[in-house]
Amino acid sequence: MTAGAERFLAAARHQAADATPVWFMRQAGRSLPQYRALRERFGFLELATNSDLSVDVTCLPVEVLGVDAAVVFADIMLPLQGMGVDFEIRENVGPVIAQPIRSERQVRELRVVEAEEATPYLFPAIRGTRERLGRRAAVVGFGAAPFTLACYLVEGQGSRDYPHVRSLIRSDPQLWDRLLTTLTEVLARYLIAQAKAGADVVQLFDSWVGVLDRGTFVRHVAPHLQALIERLRPMLPVIYFSTSSGHLLSAVAATGPDGVSVDWRLPLREAWEIVGPQRFIQGNLDPAAVLAPWPVLEEGAREVLQQVDHRPGHIFNLGHGVLPESDPDQLRRLVELVHEWGPSRDAVPAS
Ligand code: CP3
Repeated sequence: MTAGAERFLAAARHQAADATPVWFMRQAGRSLPQYRALRERFGFLELATNSDLSVDVTCLPVEVLGVDAAVVFADIMLPLQGMGVDFEIRENVGPVIAQPIRSERQVRELRVVEAEEATPYLFPAIRGTRERLGRRAAVVGFGAAPFTLACYLVEGQGSRDYPHVRSLIRSDPQLWDRLLTTLTEVLARYLIAQAKAGADVVQLFDSWVGVLDRGTFVRHVAPHLQALIERLRPMLPVIYFSTSSGHLLSAVAATGPDGVSVDWRLPLREAWEIVGPQRFIQGNLDPAAVLAPWPVLEEGAREVLQQVDHRPGHIFNLGHGVLPESDPDQLRRLVELVHEWGPSRDAVPAS
């Protein structure tokens, strides 16, 4: 059987693979009992900033679930540690910024430093993961897309629809532009350093971009996203992930990612038509299906696979992160089912 990394990278290149590669967003934390046991002893940031423990957690799902990719155990907020932004991860709330960034002075004071200085623990963790896994699984580096990082900075914490962010874009587009330019520079350095440390691909998480109307996305967000993607693509494939963003997908594709990860709201075939056959696609089973009895989960997974019909260029994933109450046994069976679905056909040249 082909090693997971080869299977994953074949799909990312639209080449035939012996089976569909599969991994899950948020697979490292949340539902695994081994992870929960570690969390009894350590806080999230303690784990993420300790390179050895971080390697252990990153590799767990490969060992326990059999997935074809390991997602580095980190968080989208970590680059802020180098920018002089004071934040905490509050239990059951998520990231909370001490002073939300809304003024020109605050944006001017954001520091842009080298990634190795901002997050020194991360790169040894990626190298350690690479060494531990060999070619057993691909290593997925990640960061936020500039918009979603700005969401936390401006709003101060997670929100249903980010009104302060949407209002700032409209009332002070220049300040917004300056903020996104700074974040794009920080993220480029952060992700390039992950590539150099041994990540096979990087995924940009733009979890909250769906709150925007299309015109705002195209004018005030897409140019920064495109600039970031252009910096990364010479080094490794870039996957762009977002949710509730069917109305944005054609504009997303125009920013140039190699692959697009879609949520469960659009049928996969339809999403693939919108982003274009030259991009690989990732997704898109509803994470809630994992909570259902096995036959229901199985049917949902088969529906996704049938949409693809063995076309090369598909990486199986959920439409968003693993829900914390998911049973790891269900995830393990899901990985088996995806692998047993069979090989992809040879690639037809993209027209
Ligand atoms: O869920 C998504 O939309 C993915 C993008 C994203 C991540 N972190 C990636 C991640 C987002 C939006 C965040 C912000 C964040 N950080 C939240 C969500 C809060 C909200 O507004 O909904 C939370 C809870 C954190 C803090 C955090 N990050 C914890 C406590 C953990 C450990 C795992 C867990 O949930 O117990 C993380 C890890 C994390 N965040 C990973 C990723 C890709 C690492 C990989 C993994 O968990 O498998």
